[in-house]
Amino acid sequence: MKLIQCDNCSKFFDGICAFEAIDFSINRGEIISLIGESGSGKSTIAECISGIKNLTTGKVTKIANLKMQYIFQNPGRSFNPKWQMGKSLLEPLKLSKKLENSTQIDVYLDKLKLDKQLLTQYPHECSGGQKQRLAIIRAILCEPDLIIADEVTSGLDSENEQELLKIFKEISLSGVAILFITHNIKTIENFSDQVIVLKQGKIVEKAITKTILDAPKQDYTQKLLAASHYFTSRRKEFVRI
Ligand SMILES: Nc1ncnc2c1ncn2[C@@H]1O[C@H](COP(=O)(O)OP(=O)(O)O)[C@@H](O)[C@H]1O
Ligand SMILES: [Mg+2]
Repeated sequence: MKLIQCDNCSKFFDGICAFEAIDFSINRGEIISLIGESGSGKSTIAECISGIKNLTTGKVTKIANLKMQYIFQNPGRSFNPKWQMGKSLLEPLKLSKKLENSTQIDVYLDKLKLDKQLLTQYPHECSGGQKQRLAIIRAILCEPDLIIADEVTSGLDSENEQELLKIFKEISLSGVAILFITHNIKTIENFSDQVIVLKQGKIVEKAITKTILDAPKQDYTQKLLAASHYFTSRRKEFVRI
């Protein structure tokens, strides 16, 4: 079942293209990775489909009452600076009438190696990685239909990154769709269902993850894979570095 569909979407900032002619859809329980070098338009696409920014042209169609949670690349502004983190986690649960999920806060704190003490701290007393993990927990506990995760693993160590990917995979199996934006191609194997490859605001390739990783059609995708060091041991033919 399609949750959201983008048709011929474009965004220009003062005439400068951030992305153009983008078409894709996200189904319930599907994990889609959006990859591409910095400045290729990943965040702006996410912001436009979530309604944070307006499209210049095109159309985004959503199912009625689509519940979406957005986890920002920079967790610095994800929390009210005057609230303890515990309150910041509980308030959206109250609003979304999911307060019973607060019993799972401890479970997720434990999985993501966070101390319970953090819940009494204020944002300025937490590190970027701690705030990012708390933002992720908050998003999951709201039980959205779709999570948009913009480079959320970039501030995490590899143990937490692996645990997070495991958690995302689990919730996707229970029906949550995830738009997973990353420039770290190593994270998408055995994780996402489909991959969209962006270059300068345009989709250059879109396919199931295995196809993108094992048989990328476009030079640009091959270069991205090579630059990620992903294939240094597996597929020497892609390595140009
Ligand atoms: N608010 C803005 N004003 C002007 N240009 C912007 C703005 N936000 C993004 N851009 C431009 O849009 C392009 C895509 O940016 P972005 O979506 O942030 O890329 P990515 O997330 O892939 O790094 C870049 O050229 C960027 O400079
Ligand atoms: Mg970005």
